[in-house]
Amino acid sequence: MKRKLNVAMIGHGFMGKAHSNAWRQVGHFFDLPFEPVMKVICGRNPEGVKEAARAFGWDEYVTSWEQLVRRKDIDVIDICSPGDTHLPIAVAAAEAGKVVFCEKPLANTLAESEQMLDAVRSNSIINMVCYNYRRAPAVALAKQIITEGRIGDICHYRGTYLQDWLVDPGLPRSWRLEKARAGSGALGDIVSHSVDLARHLVGEITEVTGLLKTFVTERPLPGTSTNAPVDVDDAALCLVRFESGAVGSIEGTRFASGRKNYNRFEINGSKGSVVFDLERMNELEIYVEEGPESGFKTVLVTDAKHPYVGSWWPPGHIIGYEHTFTHTVLDLLKAIDEQRDPTPNFEDGVRNQRVLDAVERSSSSREWVTV
Ligand SMILES: NC(=O)c1ccc[n+]([C@@H]2O[C@H](COP(=O)([O-])OP(=O)(O)OC[C@H]3O[C@@H](n4cnc5c(N)ncnc54)[C@H](O)[C@@H]3O)[C@@H](O)[C@H]2O)c1
Repeated sequence: MKRKLNVAMIGHGFMGKAHSNAWRQVGHFFDLPFEPVMKVICGRNPEGVKEAARAFGWDEYVTSWEQLVRRKDIDVIDICSPGDTHLPIAVAAAEAGKVVFCEKPLANTLAESEQMLDAVRSNSIINMVCYNYRRAPAVALAKQIITEGRIGDICHYRGTYLQDWLVDPGLPRSWRLEKARAGSGALGDIVSHSVDLARHLVGEITEVTGLLKTFVTERPLPGTSTNAPVDVDDAALCLVRFESGAVGSIEGTRFASGRKNYNRFEINGSKGSVVFDLERMNELEIYVEEGPESGFKTVLVTDAKHPYVGSWWPPGHIIGYEHTFTHTVLDLLKAIDEQRDPTPNFEDGVRNQRVLDAVERSSSSREWVTV
């Protein structure tokens, strides 16, 4: 019999659904050190959270995270609620001795993220932040190729994360468009993912110049025709310098008409390049100089020899977005078993936030800013 690990999740929207699926599936496909138990789900609205518990497969539902984090029968707190809730929940969970798994960006500000890191460190808590795209098999393969030196010394990182769901000016002002709730707009929501991939694949970012732009400055409040201000960026762009000497550009926008979830990077090294696009997530484009026959190849990353995929389907039977969360939960469980912090952890979350903070400062000052 495997040891049980009781999980409690806060929030049951988009990420609540994705994380529930991951907790439910992970033990069906991977050999785990524990049996994760989907014990309690938490939301504010009793009817909504009751239905989420039924639909997603949680044993119980509650409406107070304050009481939930103190429960003796809970081992892991999984935070899937908006950015303004991350700090109080994570700090309370750390003080109660729980493992803390938190959605990205770690917090709404750099200072808040540092408080969260202090809380997990001072209470010796295992912690992880959910930058899930590291665990797309093609991204994990790119990491292996880079680590083995196959593309040589990296010169360029080019990250773009393009969506178009805000182009309609009539779209209501949800929490994602309020600075007090979301911290920032495209910057924290999607550029943070590109920054995480840049740090993971190329290394630390030391200096940035940033530009933030809001195209639609007010929108109707949900269910009304009354407009309210939008105080976050719709688009965020930056140029970056890496510690290694590489340079990069990162662009995130929710105004790229026709682009849905175009999370792409191209990395060029002295001996080759790798290119990933989430909308073609089972593929990695690889260029390695090999003489007259060399050129970009598109590799289908679905073989048992590739990261994570051997536990799923036979070669060529592709996987999807949700698997990135399942792989993240898998690695969290392994780390808990080995009593170490997985990556990306809260320290990565803080380092990411330093870059976001520098982009904001640079956008205001119109100058290069040291991270
Ligand atoms: N890893 C990713 O790719 C990814 C993708 C989307 C969102 N996110 C992050 O996940 C988090 C949640 O985003 P989402 O898209 O799931 O949002 P959402 O609006 O779909 O869901 C938010 C949920 O949080 C609940 N909630 C809000 N305040 C609460 C409180 N005080 N107590 C309990 N529950 C509360 C809401 O009722 C809702 O169920 C954010 O930090 C966001 O940035 C990450």
